[in-house]
Amino acid sequence: MPRKIIIDTDPGQDDAVAILLALASPEELEVLGIVAVAGNVPLPRTSLNVRRIVELSGRTDVPMYAGCPRPMLRPLVTAEHVHGPTGLDGPHFPYPQNALQDQHGVDFIVETLMAAEPSSVTLCVLGPMTNVAMALVKEPGIVRGIERIVAMGGAYFEVGNITPSAEFNIYVDPEAAATVMACGVPIVLAPLDLTHQVLVTPPRMEAIRALGNPAAHAVGEMVAFSERFDREKYGWDGAPLHDPCVIAYLLKPELFSGREINVEIETMSPLTRGMSVADWWRVTERKPNALFLRDVDGDGFFALLCERLGRYPLPG
Ligand code: RIB
Ligand code: CA
Repeated sequence: MPRKIIIDTDPGQDDAVAILLALASPEELEVLGIVAVAGNVPLPRTSLNVRRIVELSGRTDVPMYAGCPRPMLRPLVTAEHVHGPTGLDGPHFPYPQNALQDQHGVDFIVETLMAAEPSSVTLCVLGPMTNVAMALVKEPGIVRGIERIVAMGGAYFEVGNITPSAEFNIYVDPEAAATVMACGVPIVLAPLDLTHQVLVTPPRMEAIRALGNPAAHAVGEMVAFSERFDREKYGWDGAPLHDPCVIAYLLKPELFSGREINVEIETMSPLTRGMSVADWWRVTERKPNALFLRDVDGDGFFALLCERLGRYPLPG
């Protein structure tokens, strides 16, 4: 029986790879819907990017929604410096023929979870947590339907990527992240401490491009565009694939390991706004509220990614 999931996302090249990975895995994942949120680029662009990626996947059965256009309290901060002005710079995407649903993405999340069997739907959060937090505020009863939340976000030993202390998704909407971290459902975090271990090195890039289908070609072009930010900043031999870690965790959890710890979010300090304060060494009495992933089998991750991308049809 496939796991029911909702993907909440701010595409973003790495979001796109995560979505393609999920849509190539229908035996394991039933994608109930994909909801765009403002983040890497403004909502009109993240919504269009969801449409582009779903069109590329050929999965016309998956409904798409637009969620919140800005964080709960703060002005939107975007990351065109990483993802380009479209958010999906790199490949050429023809204008998509598909369309978003009329329903607001937050209402879709609320309606789906209120109608769901208890603990039956997994939320995959790939961007700022605004939509999920707004759904929790609008209808706290949705927690009943949530099996767990698996989110790319936070950092501890790896420190921040948008400020010295904060990871981008949490930084953009710290109040949303704090709301989610306190909601009481099981949470799995894929922080920078984890995602910085899955770098698209040249051999891995070659393996992706060798798949030869349009989906893999687009992935190669997207990563080739977005990787320059990380290469210049960190001097690495490749860029991290942040968001696909969320989907890969659901497909092959044995590739990952971490620790159940307490993670709190800084929302008051201008200096450390959005910092994820992870009590890795359990030096406080604060109750564990998340599985904080810290290790991954990188080769196993890329073997999974290539096998799934290889399922997309060849051209012509
Ligand atoms: O910090 C990395 C995260 O921020 C990823 O989800 C990336 O897509 C951006 O949203
Ligand atoms: Ca993202």
